[in-house]
Amino acid sequence: MNIFITGGTTGIGLSLAKLYLEEGHRVGICARHLEKFPIEIRNKYKLLKCYEVNVVNREELRAAIIDFANGDLDIIIANAGRSVGAKSKTPQFSVANDIIDINVKGVLNTFECALELMLPKKKGHLVATASVAGFMGLPGAGAYSASKAAVLKLCESYSIDLKRMGINVTAIAPGFIDTPLTQQNNHKMPFLMSSDKAARLIKRALEKKKVLYVFPFRMKIIVAILEKMPRSWYRFLMGLKFLNYSSED
Ligand SMILES: NC(=O)c1ccc[n+]([C@@H]2O[C@H](COP(=O)([O-])OP(=O)(O)OC[C@H]3O[C@@H](n4cnc5c(N)ncnc54)[C@H](OP(=O)(O)O)[C@@H]3O)[C@@H](O)[C@H]2O)c1
Repeated sequence: MNIFITGGTTGIGLSLAKLYLEEGHRVGICARHLEKFPIEIRNKYKLLKCYEVNVVNREELRAAIIDFANGDLDIIIANAGRSVGAKSKTPQFSVANDIIDINVKGVLNTFECALELMLPKKKGHLVATASVAGFMGLPGAGAYSASKAAVLKLCESYSIDLKRMGINVTAIAPGFIDTPLTQQNNHKMPFLMSSDKAARLIKRALEKKKVLYVFPFRMKIIVAILEKMPRSWYRFLMGLKFLNYSSED
């Protein structure tokens, strides 16, 4: 298969790339700083192509995907994303804009470029890495939660629209995965999972063509409860100091 992964130099994207390469698939990855990608993996796999591309730049991204696919693209994983970094109670609007650009417009750009190749063939699989953060407004992470909620809804809509055109759509909603993105967090991260394990679970969900995959299972239960509870209870819970979720500023 031909599989393209945005944000494939570290964390979940890197683990997915390694997994698919080990199985003998052709893999393309992109990120803004390719030097982060482990050189030994770059040297080991001839079926790997790397592109220094910002997903916010649609033309750059399109050129990379078209060059990689050579007319045939089976799976695209819109995985590139950024989080808030240091959480703050005062909205950081420049950070918020950047998060929306990368996490939402980046996914739109990725899907648009992939569909250009997939629609004429009436086959393909669009995948986006959303987050459990998309199911509720997390304190100190409003833009991140909003961006991931947008990705969840985009995928849900597209999964209906594109089914009759032979295109599968999957939204992946992980809990806490141990990657450079979460290594900056100073709050509790229940059920933290390695990125290699996360990649194995994601790959299995994609094989089953799941439209939405929320994991780990214990996090899925907690999120379902938080999402359904009265919002005043949720706000009270998130304000509790012992959770250490919101910052002090
Ligand atoms: N880790 C978690 O607990 C967790 C949980 C839920 C969802 N997620 C989501 O999973 C995805 C992957 O996150 P991760 O935890 O694996 O983080 P990560 O290790 O920081 O990886 C992020 C990847 O995206 C790339 N990237 C960021 N901005 C980009 C841009 N504008 N254009 C192209 N590439 C870009 C990064 O490389 P460059 O910086 O060099 O561009 C890197 O390769 C993200 O969408 C994240 O929101 C993560």
